[in-house]
Amino acid sequence: MILCQTKTELQNALKTQGANPIIGFVPTMGALHEGHLSLVRQARRENEVVVTSVYVNPIQFNNAEDLEKYPRNLERDLDLLKDVGCDIVFAPDNAEMYPEKPTETYNFGTLETVMEGAFRPGHFNGVAVVVKRLFDLVKPTTAYFGEKDFQQLAIIRALVEQENLAVEIVACPTVREKDDLAMSSRNTRLSEDDRRIAPQIYKILRDCRDLTDVFTPAPLKAFAEEQFRKIPRTKLEYFEIVNAKTLQPIVNWSDCPRRVACVAIWLGEVRLIDNVKI
Ligand code: PAJ
Repeated sequence: MILCQTKTELQNALKTQGANPIIGFVPTMGALHEGHLSLVRQARRENEVVVTSVYVNPIQFNNAEDLEKYPRNLERDLDLLKDVGCDIVFAPDNAEMYPEKPTETYNFGTLETVMEGAFRPGHFNGVAVVVKRLFDLVKPTTAYFGEKDFQQLAIIRALVEQENLAVEIVACPTVREKDDLAMSSRNTRLSEDDRRIAPQIYKILRDCRDLTDVFTPAPLKAFAEEQFRKIPRTKLEYFEIVNAKTLQPIVNWSDCPRRVACVAIWLGEVRLIDNVKI
């Protein structure tokens, strides 16, 4: 496995992989867990060359404390990536990624005015800037993203379409802990007590999935919000039942066949997101 910390090193490493190889790419912010590794394993199965990036992208954080406390452990990440057969790791620093202040602005319309976009101003522009730059450097055949970040996936698909990029986007299912908490690098920041109650988040989402015969969307949303607010030490940021394609809230079940319920909730100092198809 080759570790590259500059764009030149990455370009040189890619050149050693033969002519026009089929490249699978997994962008990450490190602090890797089984969720990330499932993406890398899938990339390994489906491509000749696997590239993973490990970069905590400062311009997608709208909260200085979240950026500062974001877990970082490159040595451990490298061991894990080697074990799952990654060929090239790109781990640049900020000066390498942004020699000058980035100025690109993207417009994702109503995809970015809801949910994460509404509560984290500038977040998706920051994601789009870094992912576009990474795609330009790696030139992947296919890139792998987790459904855990459902809205991010929709934004990336829109980016690929808007910029006419020759990369296929593959959505990978959310990997969960044994107690069903969605794996997240931020889980390590939960207190022992909060970690114990965190699985209630997915339990409520699952209950919603099972109640679509009983409730129409608005009462189901009200029911879920009430359940989330009952979890101790939490602050609900949003719960939405949306059209899986447009991400706009739905009024009737018959409005669209593909629906997803999405939540963002604070547990103590930690903000968690999760979703379920319903
Ligand atoms: P990060 O949060 O590190 O996630 C990297 C990729 O792993 C994303 O596609 C995310 O959806 C996926 N992932 C995270 N947890 C997962 C889980 N439990 N199951 C399955 N997949 C999971 O998302 C980002 O980084 C950044 O925004 C990035 C795209 C790298 C741009 O900076």
